[in-house]
Amino acid sequence: MTDSVIYVSFQELATRIFHRNTGKVCNDPIADQLMARISADENLHMIFYRDVAEAAFDVAPNQTMASLQLILRNFRMPGFAVPGFRRKAVIIAVGGVYDIRIHLDEVVKPILKKWRIFEREDFTGEGARLRDDLGALIDELEIECDKFEQSKSRYLERQARRTDHNLARKVLTTEGTLGMSRR
Ligand SMILES: [Fe+2]
Repeated sequence: MTDSVIYVSFQELATRIFHRNTGKVCNDPIADQLMARISADENLHMIFYRDVAEAAFDVAPNQTMASLQLILRNFRMPGFAVPGFRRKAVIIAVGGVYDIRIHLDEVVKPILKKWRIFEREDFTGEGARLRDDLGALIDELEIECDKFEQSKSRYLERQARRTDHNLARKVLTTEGTLGMSRR
């Protein structure tokens, strides 16, 4: 039960951000408004589950911590089993709709802050050990974020060079055509 509540707390916030950013990249005011409306609903879902989970931390801190550590160590977005998910996830990440940096800074960290995970003093034994592991996980995610950002900027530079190259070729071809037409 706590596993599910913890999972959906993160998943609903991830969905909210995903829909909001999808609206922005649509370049269509109606689509943007539509996605903003859906994303506002997702936010309400998130608040509900996040508050239920917060109460669970008060009732059974160590058990809820075990769920939190399990969920964050194994987090997958819904749809990850869909064929071609990896390829689509790359397009989504490069487009800035959802990536590991957004996941860490806009989903994981704000929820952990709201639950005061690193401030609470009621984790004991295994619960305290799992909280320390979560701290290590955040550090690991920071490293992955840096790696992702480096490879994304390398990819975008390659794309920009390719675009420049194609543009130069187009200009040369156009100049050739213009030259021909002037004759
Ligand atoms: Fe939802």
